[in-house]
Amino acid sequence: MKTKTSAPGKLMLFGEHSVVYGTPCIVTAVGKRLYVEVEKIDCYDDELITPQIKECTFVKETLKVFKEKYKIGECVKVTTKGDFSHQVGLGSSSAVTVALVKALSEIFKINLTNKEIFEISYQITLNIQKVGSGFDIAAAVFGKTLFFKTGGKIIEEIEVGKLPLVIGYSGVKADTPKLVKSLKSKVKSNEEKYKKIFEEIGKIVNEAREELINKNWKIVGELMSQNHKLLQQLEVSTSKLDRMCEAAAKAGAWGAKLSGAGGGDCMIAIVEDQKRKAVEAAIQKVGGEIIDVENSTEGVNLI
Ligand code: MEV
Repeated sequence: MKTKTSAPGKLMLFGEHSVVYGTPCIVTAVGKRLYVEVEKIDCYDDELITPQIKECTFVKETLKVFKEKYKIGECVKVTTKGDFSHQVGLGSSSAVTVALVKALSEIFKINLTNKEIFEISYQITLNIQKVGSGFDIAAAVFGKTLFFKTGGKIIEEIEVGKLPLVIGYSGVKADTPKLVKSLKSKVKSNEEKYKKIFEEIGKIVNEAREELINKNWKIVGELMSQNHKLLQQLEVSTSKLDRMCEAAAKAGAWGAKLSGAGGGDCMIAIVEDQKRKAVEAAIQKVGGEIIDVENSTEGVNLI
């Protein structure tokens, strides 16, 4: 008997980096998913069929941690399939980890709650990456749009529904753990300066939460652009991401920012419907690739 699950990727809306230092962030789950199929096999070793090497590392660590924790001796065949590549930074590693924990919990009848799936999956990603707030794991588990504090101290749904977002991929894969570690050493050398920036981002995130609930997109957009300026001060943006954000704003977006660790991956813009085409064209003109994906989607599920 096979157990099949899926979990969504994510996009950071507000508060990247500063979330690692204790301020909140806002993340949304996206309509691209990672699919996992697990079946028990009568064998001496697990069989893994994962098209992407990076996912394979997370699958192996998940099996190791899960089997040790729940004292499982049986072997499984794990097959993964993704709607998206790990290249674009939509969180395929966190999605595959969460989907596999859910599938193992089902097949071995452990009946984990979503909070427990979050805790185990966060530990697994920390074992591999050593750093991270766990916001991507929360999006994969709970879905929707979430207000989040590092380690899952706060995970609350923001009832906003679908957001009018345009997403542009910069064409460059970001190395998130490297960027987080590099910022950490800069923070150590000038704590006062960075503390001020993190506090300002924290204020933006809290304001954005209210404005999202009110669907006050114009102000949400302005807050995005302010957040981007502060990320530039953290020196995590790139000239390509800056150009894409500027192009979006010039074409009439309410606001734009990089999304995620910076150094590449994606930018996002908040855009009224009539301006969507123009904003997409402007982002493409400066070399960005439009990623057409829904937001505020469902968290991990059985299929
Ligand atoms: C990376 O997408 C977001 C960071 O805040 C890291 C994290 O929260 O784990 C830079």
